[in-house]
Amino acid sequence: MRSYNAQIVEDAEALAQTAAQTFVQSCREAIVARGRFTVALSGGSTPKRLYQHLAQTPLKDAVDWSRVEFFWGDERTVPPDHPDSNYRMAREAMLEPLAIPAGQIHRMPAERSDLDRAAQEYQVEIARVCHASADDPPPSLDLVFLGMGSDGHTASLFPHTAALRETARWVVANFVPKFNANRMTMTAPMINSAAQVAFLAAGEDKAAVLAEVLTGPTDTDRLPSQLIRPISGRLTWLIDRASARLLPEKP
Ligand code: 6PG
Repeated sequence: MRSYNAQIVEDAEALAQTAAQTFVQSCREAIVARGRFTVALSGGSTPKRLYQHLAQTPLKDAVDWSRVEFFWGDERTVPPDHPDSNYRMAREAMLEPLAIPAGQIHRMPAERSDLDRAAQEYQVEIARVCHASADDPPPSLDLVFLGMGSDGHTASLFPHTAALRETARWVVANFVPKFNANRMTMTAPMINSAAQVAFLAAGEDKAAVLAEVLTGPTDTDRLPSQLIRPISGRLTWLIDRASARLLPEKP
């Protein structure tokens, strides 16, 4: 069995609070070490509560927001004001209430018709902000938040899709047959270069897949979440009791 590092909390609300504390701690460490904090946000219901916590007292006063650079791990192919936009969700829950300046917000332009080109340009944007070269291996973001779908997907790395086989690009367009739609997503090499990856999973519907991903045989084509193994960074699973139900007692 693979070893994994999981923190199990009572419910989705406790998960959002714990994840918000993870953000604050990681942010403080990065600012002390490097003077700023780079983070990739995810979509989903638990992250929304996490972002709301960060935008409220006391956590909003625990962070030097002027030193935070925001990226996204994936995005749906909708305009930024669409209800399905991951950017819009984070904007409403956190970025607007905190009055984060536009220059620190690096959203995925997934509404563009040439999505492959948009993905390449997002890679260049990450490189610019991280003082890296877009032709090199990915830079190390300080923290990447990920969710996991009940089909084992993470970010927009869906089962049996082309993006799972990407070994060089940091960001790609990925066709997802189950939605008959494209998504933009960070790739496993990009995510695995992070200093810390925090996976959030809550709810009974995640229990079976979580047990498979963490303790079952490796099958990354069917369970893309298994692709996430940071090269030298920390991987933390923040999960609630319901989603942890089928995990062995002691990891
Ligand atoms: C998206 C996400 C996606 C999400 C998972 C889990 O754009 O849909 O980034 O990867 O994190 O589907 O979502 P929940 O936390 O809502 O279950």
